[in-house]
Amino acid sequence: MPGNVIDGKRIADDVRTELKPRTSKLADEGVVPGLAAVLVGENPASQLYVKMKGKASEEMGMAHWTIELPGDVPEVRLLQEIGRLNSDPKVHGILVQQPLPDQISVDKAVSAVSPLKDVDCFHPVNVGLVLIGRPRFAPATPSGVVELLTRSGYDPSGRDVVIVGRSNIVGKPLAALLMQKGPKANATVTVVHSGTHELAAHTRRAEILIAAMGSPRFIKADMVNKGAVVIDVGINRVRDESVKSGYRTVGDVDFDAVRPKVEAISPVPGGVGPMTIAMLLSNTVYAAELALRAAGPAPT
Ligand code: GUN
Repeated sequence: MPGNVIDGKRIADDVRTELKPRTSKLADEGVVPGLAAVLVGENPASQLYVKMKGKASEEMGMAHWTIELPGDVPEVRLLQEIGRLNSDPKVHGILVQQPLPDQISVDKAVSAVSPLKDVDCFHPVNVGLVLIGRPRFAPATPSGVVELLTRSGYDPSGRDVVIVGRSNIVGKPLAALLMQKGPKANATVTVVHSGTHELAAHTRRAEILIAAMGSPRFIKADMVNKGAVVIDVGINRVRDESVKSGYRTVGDVDFDAVRPKVEAISPVPGGVGPMTIAMLLSNTVYAAELALRAAGPAPT
């Protein structure tokens, strides 16, 4: 029997539905959660992601803004824009879409976002809070992976989890989440990367394998344990002359070859991607709740 295909769209819909009572409660207080996305340059993938985030916000009845800046924007101009969004009370969540052009320091950009509006959970203070097990925001893609696993019945507790990739956006924060003592975590986590010797010896041991290194169809059937659960975080555009656009989106896992061997696998598209957006919306609702709490009760 081929492995179950984990339906990220359905699980993301569940997460979004669960947010509705919270957005209704905010509406009763006159608050509409608002998300501002800053897009620098004309990277087609980034343009698409920001558009999808805006559409999802709209579907939730949330406010959203896209601030488009040219690819050669000076760093100081970007930082000014982030400062303006930090002080706008209608904006509860801010994200600066990555990658950023070379003249911009990613560290400076993520550190400029107010930690209370940092719905990507990239600010060093929020990253630190995740590491010590007291998260303010949930890092969107990593917590999307955790929800995908647990809501499909695959509790990571006590399991050997191998993460391929050590990025600040996925690999590192996901390792931090999964190694915590507590529910939806408590795993034995190994992170492998481009400097790892005998990488396949590690991936073959995994009960839960998470591919997040951004290399199209890198994980082959002989790198996977029989009966493993495989989560594919990769989103790669590859040439494919058989489709009209000439491109196809594939993950970091060779899906067709790996599926027959495993217990379950998340597809690309339709796996982790929709979860990232759902968790971003969830963080934006939380940021609006934080702002309301900080403002105190409404005057009577
Ligand atoms: N680039 C790739 N993934 C992400 C993400 O989750 N947030 C932002 N801001 N940029 C990204």
